[in-house]
Amino acid sequence: MSEAAIGIYGLGTMGSALALNMAEAGIEVAVANRETDWLGPFMARAGDLAARLHPHDTLGAFVAGLACPRVVMFMIPSGAALDEMIAALAPLLDAGDTIIDGGNADFHDTRRRAAALAERDLHFVGLGISGGEAGARHGPSMMLGGSDRSWQHLRPILTSVAAEYDGQPCVAHLGPDGAGHFVKTVHNGIEYAEMQVMAELYGLMCHGMAMPPGRIGEVFAVWDAGPLQSYLTGVTAEVLQATDPESGHPVVDVILDAAGQKGTGRWTAIEALRMGQSASMVEAAVGARSWSAEKATRQRAETVLGGRRLALDLSTEALAGALEAARVLGHAQGFRILAAAAREFDWPLEFATIARIWRAGCIIRSAMLDDMAAAFDAVPPEDELILSEHFAARLAERLPDLRQVVVAAVAGGHAVPALSAALAWADTMRQGRGTADLIQAQRDYFGRHGFARLGQEGRHHGPWWS
Ligand code: 6PG
Repeated sequence: MSEAAIGIYGLGTMGSALALNMAEAGIEVAVANRETDWLGPFMARAGDLAARLHPHDTLGAFVAGLACPRVVMFMIPSGAALDEMIAALAPLLDAGDTIIDGGNADFHDTRRRAAALAERDLHFVGLGISGGEAGARHGPSMMLGGSDRSWQHLRPILTSVAAEYDGQPCVAHLGPDGAGHFVKTVHNGIEYAEMQVMAELYGLMCHGMAMPPGRIGEVFAVWDAGPLQSYLTGVTAEVLQATDPESGHPVVDVILDAAGQKGTGRWTAIEALRMGQSASMVEAAVGARSWSAEKATRQRAETVLGGRRLALDLSTEALAGALEAARVLGHAQGFRILAAAAREFDWPLEFATIARIWRAGCIIRSAMLDDMAAAFDAVPPEDELILSEHFAARLAERLPDLRQVVVAAVAGGHAVPALSAALAWADTMRQGRGTADLIQAQRDYFGRHGFARLGQEGRHHGPWWS
């Protein structure tokens, strides 16, 4: 049997799709799974690709089947189970071998694991993989954090299975240890904001403009055919137009309005706040998912507080403008968190590269990301997306639409937490002088904190302390 270039442990949805993708790219792949009885059905499903897939039912045999230096990729949940597997695997490896975590991990855990394994001369790679099952099978976008040595070793494998945009593979080495998982986390935060914005626009069309789901789906389909093209816009168009075969109703009408979440959106919001930043649109999206899950409370509140919503007189052009402005602002907030993390962890994050590898394969891929890559590539480079020539002009054109939509929604009693967060952030950043003079005066009044005085050096106190 030929030695495998990589071993994939974990044959769930993502692991098996990635293993098949690699085999299809001509790579010999060793595979293993905690439940060994998954191996048979997986190999049967692999068809012709089975010739390059090598199943093992013990960890020892799995490691023995790998070419040296070895590469083992874990495709299992990144919590305690991963720590247990790393503890079991590490003694079987040699210095210079690499362990990859291809799941959605908290980057703090990735940093901890990388540091612990470095002491044993083992490389640990945190690989953010986006694109869901189809992406993993036919070309995901991949965000790698780890050593240069691991990247050089993995590069041929990863580039051969990654999504491509204009012939360029959507995979890059973004920095050491947790950099890849952090960028993936922020990707998911932007994904949350995008999905929430779309849900809010759907809500306005449905509850404010009395449009049936199929018609709203058609609007999203039109948007998907123009500058607002994105994977999520297309998904939204399709699901809104789908019919439930059992009831004959639109599928969305038979789905419970309580959203799940596995944690990456929450991590984005938490990390933003921890670093003195705010991803207000991501916070709004995470909060909205949490409130959505409180179905019983909302049903009671509808009776107690009254659930009346007014009809809205909005054009689909205004809604499209709101979506465009919100998309720019959501991504801008995401890139600001990346900038804060690059400063805090001394990561060499290149925003143009990140925008480039998000252009295909991943869940937030959109036509706009190509313009974002160009904005970050501009000379001189602009780190603030909202200040780049292209996006400042787009916002100047589209902010009035966002404002019109938010004003109408708020006046009509329609909840638009992410759209309002977007507008509030844009309006805050548009003011060279804000209102924090009062906050500083209040802090000084009750806590003698002092404040900086315009045109003078040093700390000052108000007359309440004289
Ligand atoms: C991706 C997705 C994928 C998944 C997340 C979000 O990039 O392929 O982001 O990772 O959708 O798990 O899941 P939740 O919405 O359940 O938090």
